[in-house]
This record gives sequence, structure tokens and C-alpha cells, in this order.
Amino acid sequence: MKKILVTGGAGYIGSHTLIELIKLGFEPVVYDNLSNSSPVAIERVEQIVDQKIAFIKGDVLDKTHLTQVFTEHEFFGVIHFAGLKAVGESVAKPLKYYQNNVSGTLNLLEVMTDFGVKNFIFSSSATVYGDPEMLPIVETARRSCTNPYGQSKLTVEYVLEDLAKSERVPSWNIISLRYFNPIGADASGTIGEDPSDIPNNLMPYISQVAVGKLEKLSVFGDDYDTPDGTGVRDYIHVVDLAKGHVKALEYIAKQTSAFGFEPINLGTGHGTSVLELVGAFVSTTGQNVPYVIAPRRAGDIATCYASADKAKTLLGWTAEFDIERMCVDTWRWQSQNPQGYHSN
Ligand code: NAD
Ligand code: UD1
Repeated sequence: MKKILVTGGAGYIGSHTLIELIKLGFEPVVYDNLSNSSPVAIERVEQIVDQKIAFIKGDVLDKTHLTQVFTEHEFFGVIHFAGLKAVGESVAKPLKYYQNNVSGTLNLLEVMTDFGVKNFIFSSSATVYGDPEMLPIVETARRSCTNPYGQSKLTVEYVLEDLAKSERVPSWNIISLRYFNPIGADASGTIGEDPSDIPNNLMPYISQVAVGKLEKLSVFGDDYDTPDGTGVRDYIHVVDLAKGHVKALEYIAKQTSAFGFEPINLGTGHGTSVLELVGAFVSTTGQNVPYVIAPRRAGDIATCYASADKAKTLLGWTAEFDIERMCVDTWRWQSQNPQGYHSN
């Protein structure tokens, strides 16, 4: 069985990925400082998969501890979810974001090098494309970011590319998965996204309005150059996203020689507007989602959706779940856990 270190494995995407890893015969070891997650998430995953999951409380900034973990386990590879992700906070506290997201990754890569573990999957983001020149967005598109969170992801990508390029004969297998907009939850309704504060992202905001925690949604702008004037994004079910990570690991496992660095989009290839998502949520769940049209949010772009061709060709991965399923699964999680992991 291949042992995988899953940094940030207690978080939203990490917890869903644990299930898919176990289903496909990998053995995850979670490494998380719980700065934005709860140990309850791991307990819930254990109930879903009906087995114990190795969990180590630790910080990727703590290189000594990471070294100890690598001494105690023989890893096939690492999936690196651990990171901070709040765009607004990153603008106010850039050092915190560069420290955690960039220095944390450097520590991890150094320890991996020391132990000869060279299979690495990185949580990147569509944010590295900034305001796209062409749609759908292909992996070779120009990259640019406007906020420290995005810059930290882009900086890590540059580090990973340089690392891969530093060798005449590659020994690293690095896949940078550029996620589009993950939403939804496991079909059990027992794990899901649990924002610690008022949500910044659209779907958790909608579901908190529906459950009565928030009064109404503000739709940030209805004058974009899009069919209904509201922002268009490529929403992807978190379970599809999780499966993409396992496909990436399987791709690495079957290589006979190392390939260096590969960036791969994980998206559906379809755009959905803010009002379309609200409409789908209301019609699939029967809940009310009152909203007002508000000014544009600074830094937002009109439209962003992926070309999902490379993931299909290289990994044999395609997203399966539609917007309706994303809404139903989000609502099951939110309605069963109105206070997230703190409610029951
Ligand atoms: P999350 O906050 O739910 O999960 C991240 C996990 O990392 C948390 O459990 C947190 O406690 C842990 N963590 C943070 N800093 C750590 C550190 N220094 N040491 C150890 N653990 C640490 O976020 P998520 O939505 O699951 O995102 C996972 C990754 O994917 C992040 O790197 C994020 O930037 C990236 N990403 C997320 C999205 C999204 O919309 N959710 C989109 C693109 C990329
Ligand atoms: C945001 C982040 C991006 C990150 C991504 C996924 C910003 C500027 N960008 O992108 O870096 O990678 O999340 O985590 O924060 N909307 C509303 N009302 C709301 C919330 C959002 O109308 O209360 C709209 C937005 O204007 C946008 C769409 O909904 O058109 C999606 O927003 P969001 O979920 O925040 O994702 P992104 O903007 O794609």
C-alpha cells in the first residue's frame, strides 16, 4: 500500500480527498496544524470509510517536526493542501501568507529532498491566471496575480518549475493542480466546507443565507460583460476534485521515468453565473435565498472557466457532477450542520 503524506488533510478539500485515497488503496497520513479546521472532520471521514486514519498535529513551518515525521514513515508521495486561502486577509497580512504558503512549502520540499521522496502534488488555483486573455483557460496561458494569496501560489509554482528544471535528468514528479471553484460536499452530508468567519466565497454564503445564519446575499455586480451581467465561474464538485488528486497520484505511479513539472487544470469546462447558481440552489433545495445587487468586488474578474482537456488526456479524469448535484450536496451538509463542525 502506498503511504501518502496529506498536509492540510483536515481541511475542506483534504478531508474529501482522504476518502478517495482510501477507496483506491492508498494509505493517507494527515499532517495539519488545525489552524483552519477541526479534528471532527477526520473523525467523520473515519466513520465514512469505516477505518482509522493516521493524524499528526503539526505545522509545515516546523521543519524539525517534519523531518521526524519522514523518519517515522516511508512515503510514496505528498499531497500538499496546507495553506492559508483568504484573499482579503492576505492583502492585510502579506507576510503571514508568504511565510505560511511559500516558506511552508520550501520546508516540505527540502525535507522531501533529504529523504528522496520526489512525488509531489500541489494545491494551486485558477487565481494564478488573473484576468484571462482567452477562454477556456489552457495551462499555457499567461499567469499574473493581483493579491498576496495568488502571488504565494504563483511563487510556489515558480519554485516547483525551477526545482524540476534544476536537474539534467529529472527525478521529481510534480503536478500542480490548478483548482477552479470547488463547492459541494460528500453525499453523506457529514463533511463539508466550514468557514470560520463570514464566508468570502459565493456558495458557502448562499448556503448560510438559506439556513438562516445570514440575512441576504449581495451579488457583486450585475454589469459585467456576461449573459446576465453577473460573474461567471467554473464550479466543480469537491468530490470530483478529490478524485482528480488520486488520478494524479496514479499517473505518477505508472511513470517509468520522472517527468519534472506538470500544471493541470481541475475544472468542468463550463461557466455558471452568480444568478444561475442562486437559481439552481433555490430550485434544487426549495430554500429561499434573498439577494440584492451590490457594487462589484475589488479585484473580481468577469469570467473564468477551464479547459479541462489536459486533465482528460493526461490523467483520464473528467468531472462528473453537475451544478444541481453540487447544490443538493452543499445543502445536505449545511442543513445537517448549521454550525459546521461545532454544532453536534
Ligand atoms: P482549508 O483551509 O479548508 O484547508 C487547509 C488546511 O491546511 C486546513 O486544515 C489548515 O488547518 C491547514 N494548514 C494551514 N496552514 C498550515 C500549516 N502551516 N501547517 C499545517 N497545516 C496547515 O482549505 P481548502 O479549501 O481545503 O484548500 C486546500 C488548499 O487548496 C489550500 O492550499 C488552498 O489555497 C487551495 N485552493 C483552495 C481553493 C478553494 O476554493 N477552496 C481554490 C484553489 C486552491
Ligand atoms: C475567489 C478568490 C480567488 C480564489 C477563489 C477560490 C477573490 C477576489 N478571489 O475567487 O483568489 O482562488 O475564490 O477560493 O476573492 N460573489 C457574490 N457575492 C458573494 C461572493 C461572491 O456575488 O458574497 C460572486 C463574485 O463576484 C464572483 C462569484 O460570486 O463573481 C464567485 O466568487 P467566489 O466564490 O469568491 O470565487 P472567485 O471570485 O472565483
